[in-house]
Amino acid sequence: MKQKAVLAFSGGLDTSVVIKYLQEKHRMDVITVTVDVGEGSDQKKIAAKAKNLGVLRHYNIDAKKEFVDDFIHPSIKANALYQRKYCLATSLARPLIAQKVLEVAKKEKVDALAHGCTGKGNDQVRFDVTFGSGSNLPIIAPIRDLNLDRTTELEFANKHGIPIDSVSKKFSIDQNLWGRAIEGGDMEDPYNEPPDDAFIWVKTKNLPDKARYLEIEFDQGIPVAVDKKRMSPIKLIEYCNRVAGSCGVGIVDHIEDRVVGIKSREVYETPAALCLIEAHSDLEKMVHTKHQNKFKSMVDQEWTWLAYSGLWQDPLKRDLDKFIDQSQKVVTGTVKLKLYKGSFRVVGRKSKYSLYSHNIATYGKGSAFDQRKATGFVELWGLQTTEANKLSNKR
Ligand code: ARG
Repeated sequence: MKQKAVLAFSGGLDTSVVIKYLQEKHRMDVITVTVDVGEGSDQKKIAAKAKNLGVLRHYNIDAKKEFVDDFIHPSIKANALYQRKYCLATSLARPLIAQKVLEVAKKEKVDALAHGCTGKGNDQVRFDVTFGSGSNLPIIAPIRDLNLDRTTELEFANKHGIPIDSVSKKFSIDQNLWGRAIEGGDMEDPYNEPPDDAFIWVKTKNLPDKARYLEIEFDQGIPVAVDKKRMSPIKLIEYCNRVAGSCGVGIVDHIEDRVVGIKSREVYETPAALCLIEAHSDLEKMVHTKHQNKFKSMVDQEWTWLAYSGLWQDPLKRDLDKFIDQSQKVVTGTVKLKLYKGSFRVVGRKSKYSLYSHNIATYGKGSAFDQRKATGFVELWGLQTTEANKLSNKR
């Protein structure tokens, strides 16, 4: 009997090549799994493509809700922006996709797990570590094993009659509910401006002349309503993507440090993520003490690094999740954002847990803050600093 492999299949170039490779070189039957994380691609088309490539069985798994509840929401709570820019759209989806592949692998009693990641990226880490955390099955990664490049893959696809759409010919795209990553082509020169046709979610021309406000309501760190409308978590993110994108907000262009050490030029469209994280972190500043704010930003950074670098399953991440969840109990309130021609900023915030006291902060008459008490405080606060300098002035 032929051996079976289960493959995480996106319908794109890499994973299509992998199907043929597993069938021809490994003489294996291939079972494909496509996990819908809200990327908006046509699941029926992907299933048809898998069938045409001769797979034994194809699974389509709708994991949008899990993606939001178990991956996106924790990342909002952690204000997760890798290197202050990247909202981890791809990084968060990979462990979930790999988890679903494992579930199918168990059900189908397969002999190997396969993915289409290259040996140059972060995705291989996310897949391998998730696979390795949940099974002892061998992992086949043909693109990496054969050191394949995109040009060779395109030739291979041509020879094997694998259809490739025109966008995939130009860019390497990965998208889901939380963001769209665009790589390759002329953008590999980091000085080249991304062409307008790289963008689908964010408007780059003819932006509205009137500012648009977004009012985001959080309940314990989770966005629950926008513009006074309560929405399901999925709808809420789609709504923010649409509104912010239409105002030209959401493009990120930066140099990113990959786990394997490569510096890459990354271009993203992540309108909802940028707005929601900005609003969330602003609200935290209002409801947390200065000590909480300082410490949590370190926790956030470590959490983000673990998620980015493929260590989603590390016990440390679970520990940090507990800390973060506890900190979110008071992150309830509303933040007002103003979006205008590609830029956005917070212009208002309120919370029943607010630690802001007008009475204390006001420069006006009748403040409850007695300035005279500050003199002694400042003297002690700066004691060692002033003493050290006096001493060194004498030397
Ligand atoms: N650099 C990002 C990450 O590692 C996004 C990569 C997405 N692109 C891709 N073709 N998988 O998460």
